[in-house]
Amino acid sequence: MIDLKMKAVLVVHGGAWAIPEELSKASVEGVQSAARQGFSVLKSGGCALDAVEVAVRAMEDNTAFDAGHGSVLNTDGEVELDALIMDGRTLASGAVSSVKNIANPVSLARAVMEKTDHVMLTGRGANLFAERVGVHTVPTETLVTEYERKEWEKPKKYMTGVKELFNSQWAHDTVGAVAVDCSGNVACATSTGGIRNKMVGRVGDSPVIGSGGYADNHSGAVSCTGHGESILKVTLARLILFHVEQGKEVSQAVEVSLRYMDERVQGGGGAIAVTPSGKWAINFTTERMAWAAVENDVLWYGLDPSDKFQEELQ
Ligand code: GLY
Repeated sequence: MIDLKMKAVLVVHGGAWAIPEELSKASVEGVQSAARQGFSVLKSGGCALDAVEVAVRAMEDNTAFDAGHGSVLNTDGEVELDALIMDGRTLASGAVSSVKNIANPVSLARAVMEKTDHVMLTGRGANLFAERVGVHTVPTETLVTEYERKEWEKPKKYMTGVKELFNSQWAHDTVGAVAVDCSGNVACATSTGGIRNKMVGRVGDSPVIGSGGYADNHSGAVSCTGHGESILKVTLARLILFHVEQGKEVSQAVEVSLRYMDERVQGGGGAIAVTPSGKWAINFTTERMAWAAVENDVLWYGLDPSDKFQEELQ
């Protein structure tokens, strides 16, 4: 254990949508567990980049969430995964899109960042790269839950009316983490199976740097969730950090950016953000978003808009 010189903070989300009662307990417990695991990295002196990867992997391994295990199916009944990771120290970034049969796309994104000259690999190329760097593939069936099969078999409706989509229980969305470590370095990571019944090859915001996430030590780190096409149109993660750069408090920056996405493109979603000084914010325009944050050994968490529960970390 080290003496933290600066305030280390880790925040996670498990997706902004109308989370049904049957998934609510698992969603809250899942984000709490991911936040604990990510924060333990920071507490033992690890960097923000490692912490966000650990937190997102925990949610990719949890079938309550639409990422890794538990991902939604596209029109062909396949799983296509998107993820990004970004290091605020150098702006180093890695992403994968439309990758198949990978349990932890966030770690593959990190390998793209660290082992290639590129920022994003997609589809077959991402899978070939996974093979080259020894990231094992898993059978599609291990990523798909019975819940998802049943939902996918219901009448198909990839609604474009964005607000309705993300306030229906049809949507199911994305996990993410942001962190600042005790040296003031920030990082973000986002991972998703996307939106149920998406077209084959459809890529949302989650692997797109500046939309699904962004991290810069000069302003902060953001991870987004919600309707990917809307988030892409307003480059939500960068928009939030733009407002921080213009002098807004991080909570205000998240709020005005989500409001802008709502008014300008009728897009629903949510975001989590942290600044290098350890200020953090969560917000969403959907019915619910499971989230958790750890600072000063206190775990904060919530699901409904007015929730802000806390408990001491053991
Ligand atoms: N936000 C995830 C997606 O639209 O794919």
